[in-house]
Amino acid sequence: MKNIGVLTSGGDSPGMNSAIRAVARTCAHYDIKCTGIVRGFQGLIENNTKVLYTRSVRGIINRGGTFLYSARSDEFKTKEGRKEAFKTIEENEIDGLVVIGGDGSFTGGLIFMEEYNIPVVGIPGTIDNDLYGTSHTLGYDTALNTATEAIDKIRDTASSHERTFIVEVMGRKSPSIAVHVGVCCGAENIIFPYKKVDYDRIAQDIKHGIKKGKTSSIIIVGEGEKPGMSYNVQRELRENHQLVAHVCILGHIQRGGAPTHQDRFIASKMGNMAVSHLMTSSKAAAICYENGGIKVKSLKKKILKMKLQNIKLV
Ligand code: F6P
Repeated sequence: MKNIGVLTSGGDSPGMNSAIRAVARTCAHYDIKCTGIVRGFQGLIENNTKVLYTRSVRGIINRGGTFLYSARSDEFKTKEGRKEAFKTIEENEIDGLVVIGGDGSFTGGLIFMEEYNIPVVGIPGTIDNDLYGTSHTLGYDTALNTATEAIDKIRDTASSHERTFIVEVMGRKSPSIAVHVGVCCGAENIIFPYKKVDYDRIAQDIKHGIKKGKTSSIIIVGEGEKPGMSYNVQRELRENHQLVAHVCILGHIQRGGAPTHQDRFIASKMGNMAVSHLMTSSKAAAICYENGGIKVKSLKKKILKMKLQNIKLV
């Protein structure tokens, strides 16, 4: 391994910078060139690269976002796009690739490896925590803390005005954020769009709480395929259950901010392990977090399978 490429792809997540830094610094330690690819797979197609030295990654371990930028590349989904991307690999003499991203990015990396035989290692980076085989993805812990803090604030004003709030959190098909912040904020209900919603029960619960003297109620809604599901919940409660509720969609605030200690620490170890793996093996791998430790797992289709926790939601 003389030159390792690193890119971030898909939705950004806090901890991606910490992982890039660890990759670049581990490369420097072993005297391996580190090539940063700007704007994910799209940057690979467009030969948008920059060499990462030890000093290039200073001061980023604590910064949210990704200083290499990220993109969702439709072109990379095509054979032609990947052909162009491989030209960049050849021109820059890149021997192995670290892909930091979610399931879509891992899938792209795996297909690329199968077609062009370039070793790929995935580092799970997404706030959604929806990759099989790892209990934590980079950014998830930070997103949970951001959402928890925001909902605590909503609780303050909800209590002062004796209101019911519907708070929508991110996670696309994954209920992880909704379930965890719901529990941690003492939400009265958690709704996830892929489960049947029992509005009668929700309305009954809230009315019962009010009767007993509750000053506020919070319903957490997982966003599902696209944001806005909360407005349906609001309408249903108003029109069929005579309950007034306010909507707050937390949105992209959950993707930003300084990574927590946990995200920085795991990212640093994962970045280091990704380089070590590329130095010793050419097998596709995913760096996973399991039972408190970092493990290298084979990057097979299994890792990409959605993790829909079997938790009773409403
Ligand atoms: O994959 C992370 C995520 O933040 C999801 O939770 C959300 O549904 C989606 O990305 C939003 O994507 P975009 O960046 O296109 O707004």
